[in-house]
Amino acid sequence: MKLKVAIQMDHVSTIDIDGDSTFVLGLEAQRRGYDVWHYTPPDLSFRDRKVTARAQPMTLRREKGNHFTLGAAETVDLSAMDVVLLRQDPPFDMSYITTTHILEHIHPTTLVVNDPASVRNAPEKLFVTHFDNVMPPTLISADARAIREFWKEHKEIILKPLFGNGGSGVFRVRSDDENFNSLLEMFSQRSREPLIAQRYLPEVRQGDKRIILIDGKPAGVINRVPAEGEARSNMHVGGKALKETLTRRDRELCEIIGPALAERGLIFVGIDVIGDWLTEINVTSPSGLPPTCMLLRASPAAGTRLMAPANSPSTSMMRLSPWRTSGR
Ligand SMILES: Nc1ncnc2c1ncn2[C@@H]1O[C@H](COP(=O)(O)OP(=O)(O)O)[C@@H](O)[C@H]1O
Ligand SMILES: [Mg+2]
Repeated sequence: MKLKVAIQMDHVSTIDIDGDSTFVLGLEAQRRGYDVWHYTPPDLSFRDRKVTARAQPMTLRREKGNHFTLGAAETVDLSAMDVVLLRQDPPFDMSYITTTHILEHIHPTTLVVNDPASVRNAPEKLFVTHFDNVMPPTLISADARAIREFWKEHKEIILKPLFGNGGSGVFRVRSDDENFNSLLEMFSQRSREPLIAQRYLPEVRQGDKRIILIDGKPAGVINRVPAEGEARSNMHVGGKALKETLTRRDRELCEIIGPALAERGLIFVGIDVIGDWLTEINVTSPSGLPPTCMLLRASPAAGTRLMAPANSPSTSMMRLSPWRTSGR
């Protein structure tokens, strides 16, 4: 069956063909013979109960400097698509949130990956708090006194913005840090949002794992080791991707959260695991697919179920087919 797939994304000219998961998804859709359409969030409109996008047919190729061709723009009724991939990068701001409200009108007749209402309800660092025995000791608060107490108790903590991403604004605060008050001041001047304080996990030196779950089941894993002299493992800031396998604890974590993901239509998810602890459940445009795919060459049985025909129950509509990685 020839599916129609629209990708809501930052403009294709801005993507990194070596590191971007959206590029891998687009190429895979194309390899399967699907029609692939491109549009950016500002191209999305709602009028008289119809969701449309000013979209362009897209062809992709793994060729630096020449990785895409876009056809003529047309106003496309998105309810005529089989799949819409929600793939623009955070920030998870009101512009992002508005697109989830609009796309709710077509889901699930058109499969939106991930379910737009669930994406809105599961901000990465807050969603984790709903599961028992998975998180390191964590405080979410804007109260300077509560944060200070937490720091004194745990001695060494990580302070990070609640809605940050890519390691931006993440600080390691040691027990004798003299910048603590100043840091809190800076955060509060920047935003009214609460902060997240977490016990510092020294295991991070061995890496922060990214596990990709598809439909609630682990499908791939990589490890990201922070560069020397750097607290953050994010690949944006020099974290190195290394081959990894799932430990028993990793599988346990996936089993704890997997059913809740599948139930909520969170089909494509990336979780972050440091040591035995889950720190983030990324549901808005997760990254990490290209290195994971690369490493999955070792286990070609792993599959993707991201694109599927519409009008069938959500689980059976995800056809499990081998994640072909040869040549990419
Ligand atoms: N509790 C922690 N202990 C040690 N390092 C941490 C902790 N939390 C985050 N980090 C480091 O900071 C990086 C970014 O934190 P993360 O919570 O994943 O936020 P982001 O959304 O910015 O990726 C992680 O990859 C890890 O290297
Ligand atoms: Mg992270």
